[in-house]
Amino acid sequence: MTAADVAVTAGGPNEFGYHDYALGEFRFSRDEYFAYIGWPTGRHVMSVDAFLRALQRDVAWEFFYGIVNFDGVLGTMNHYGTVDLFAGRYNDAYRKAELDHVETVETTVIRETFKAMLADWTNEGFDPFASPEETGSAFGAKHGDNIAAITRHRVTAARMVSLPGDEPLRDDGNGHPVNRMFADVIQDQPDIHAEPGFADEIGSFNLFAYLSRSPVTWNPSVVSVCRESLYCPTTEEYILPIIHGNDRAEWFVQLSDEIIWDVEDRDTGAKRAKVIMKAGDVAAMPSDIRHQGYSPKRSMLLVWENASPKIPELISSGQFPTQPVEF
Ligand code: PHB
Ligand code: FE
Repeated sequence: MTAADVAVTAGGPNEFGYHDYALGEFRFSRDEYFAYIGWPTGRHVMSVDAFLRALQRDVAWEFFYGIVNFDGVLGTMNHYGTVDLFAGRYNDAYRKAELDHVETVETTVIRETFKAMLADWTNEGFDPFASPEETGSAFGAKHGDNIAAITRHRVTAARMVSLPGDEPLRDDGNGHPVNRMFADVIQDQPDIHAEPGFADEIGSFNLFAYLSRSPVTWNPSVVSVCRESLYCPTTEEYILPIIHGNDRAEWFVQLSDEIIWDVEDRDTGAKRAKVIMKAGDVAAMPSDIRHQGYSPKRSMLLVWENASPKIPELISSGQFPTQPVEF
């Protein structure tokens, strides 16, 4: 199916000007402050700004690796072709009470429905990727839209940012001023001294300068690729708007400032660890957890992913350990 073939199931608009949406037996609606989610055995409510920040990432990341929890109840699990939309599935209390619900949906259908909902429910002036200090309000009756912000280009280098034909560097001229919190980041670029004949085979760029000019938060972008090894740095401020449930291990390298991570059991939500990462710290997040980060100042984080499609199965069948390193 292509996007054009997908019929999004929507009704309304309601008295606040917003349409409601259906995916299988799930129903989504919003009013001035809240998003409401219903399914046959329950219903749920979230502040609409938090809902839109999570929805934005789920759409932009094509459902990411493993689980994107919008909060402790609602979320998606990526099966790379289909997506499980769930309520309470990874919540011990909902499971024990048998109130959880899952719909397995073709990726195209959930993507087009989520895109339509995001476009309809995001008002003029609200940018779900921006930090709270750098955006207007998500609230109120429907007024305008912010299509440019919600469909912005996602950086995914084929080899490496700055190489010919690949993702360009950022500068003032292409709409990427230095962020207010990174005013002290040195903006020079490395000198390259290639051996004769090798000038076309070597590239380098200043990653700190590149990140200092990121307009978005909590949005890993692929800046370099070595087979299935992806460097996905990101700039963080306030709270990661999703709770990520891993289907593989991830390495974190804290490049500047500090992030506090809440780490929970992936399947039950039971608390497992509080990890405080300061500049220079490195952590391996195991594949059986979920995590959410808090960044008091805008910080730079390198997320290092192995994108191999074989990994989830190797882990769930026990052939790979859940943690990538033993101490
Ligand atoms: C993660 O879930 O590992 C993650 C997601 C977004 C970020 C950083 C980390 O910005
Ligand atoms: Fe993660």
